Amino acid sequence: MQKVHSASDIDWIIKTHDSKDLSKAKEMFPIETARLARHLHSQIPGYYITRLAALPNLATMLGVGGIYIKNEGERMELNSFKVMGGSFAIFKFFQDKLNITDDQLSFDYLTSSEVKKKLGEITFASATDGNHGRGIAWAAKMLGQKCMIYVHSETSQARIDAIRAYDATVKIIPGNYDHAVKQCVVDAKKNGWEVISDTSWDGYTIVPTRIMQGYTTMLLEAQKQFSSQGIEYPTHVFVQAGVGALAAAVIGFYSALCNGVTPPKFIVVEPQTAACVFETAKYDDGKTHDIDGSLSTIMAGLACGETSPIAWEILKENADVFMKVPDYVAARGMRIMATPLKGDPMIISGESGAVTLGALYQLLSLQGNDELKDYLKLDHTSNILFINTEGNTDPKSFRQIVWDGSDPVPDTYKTER
Ligand SMILES: Cc1ncc(COP(=O)(O)O)c(C=O)c1O
Repeated sequence: MQKVHSASDIDWIIKTHDSKDLSKAKEMFPIETARLARHLHSQIPGYYITRLAALPNLATMLGVGGIYIKNEGERMELNSFKVMGGSFAIFKFFQDKLNITDDQLSFDYLTSSEVKKKLGEITFASATDGNHGRGIAWAAKMLGQKCMIYVHSETSQARIDAIRAYDATVKIIPGNYDHAVKQCVVDAKKNGWEVISDTSWDGYTIVPTRIMQGYTTMLLEAQKQFSSQGIEYPTHVFVQAGVGALAAAVIGFYSALCNGVTPPKFIVVEPQTAACVFETAKYDDGKTHDIDGSLSTIMAGLACGETSPIAWEILKENADVFMKVPDYVAARGMRIMATPLKGDPMIISGESGAVTLGALYQLLSLQGNDELKDYLKLDHTSNILFINTEGNTDPKSFRQIVWDGSDPVPDTYKTER
């Protein structure tokens, strides 16, 4: 059992490694696959490189060298990084069906009438907290195919409408995200649908691996953006987790790329009420551990109770810190990004997107967590990467938080700056 530390409303586990085993990271995240994903994504009409926004004034205020936010809130018309994973998995599915090589893969070919004629009608199916399903619906429509998306009963109407906008059929399942995943798999089997799930389970790993590989397009972009500023690698990466696939992609990609030469410190952040990766890290016994119940949090994209086993394979070897934080930390992160210090850019971030910056602020602004601060060595030499994983994907909730001040910071944890 790993020791859980708590101070200033953050719980954390420090996972020390005698040495990190990079073999899984190298196997799952070879640079050639990242290049293939980027090559395909860059052919999609409307693709452009999202900003790597620097917030130098916030960095100075917090006493760190640089704060860099990869702004996936601007990712095409989807406002979330999620589409990069689902689309890559679907492109690879087509490749398998067509039995063609990587060199023969092109967006124009995949969307051609020749391919449609060859493959006929396919229905893709997935469960979602919102963003993944929207990305799958968008990709299916682009390829002229059908889509069934399963959401849980707490999913907001705005998120459901955003999926339906791409002609997907949306099924609402009682319970939480994990119940929606299970029902989707049962129905897909009955109806002959192709499941494109971002989480994995026994015997279902190829598609979720490809989804994780698809996310690495944004990391290749970020690396180019860092090197144009004379930064080789970030020194720290804060990454949020639902089932842990994004975190594993980011941490696996950087671990493989750095190949043991001073990799960044990796910090995985989750909501207090849905911290399945944290729970798994706490037991650290080679198995994943679940959280049951409603998983109620404002961070809809992170409301998952079951860690993806293939993601854990990467995280257990390479992540350095697991953290869980209350909802107001994400709400404060949204407000910090939407109302920046003079000279820093404004960033529109949703709840799941903002939690990592909120966590850094909480960590560096409050007393009592010196052990974690010392371990992370966050100082003027640190260049910290965050991923704003979503923009304003739920406008009503965004206004309630940013305009009306819902999920306020409790008096005990207000900072004096
Ligand atoms: C906005 C956003 N951020 C982060 C995540 C977390 O991704 P994962 O479930 O791969 O951990 C999600 C997942 O849906 C999401 O929608």
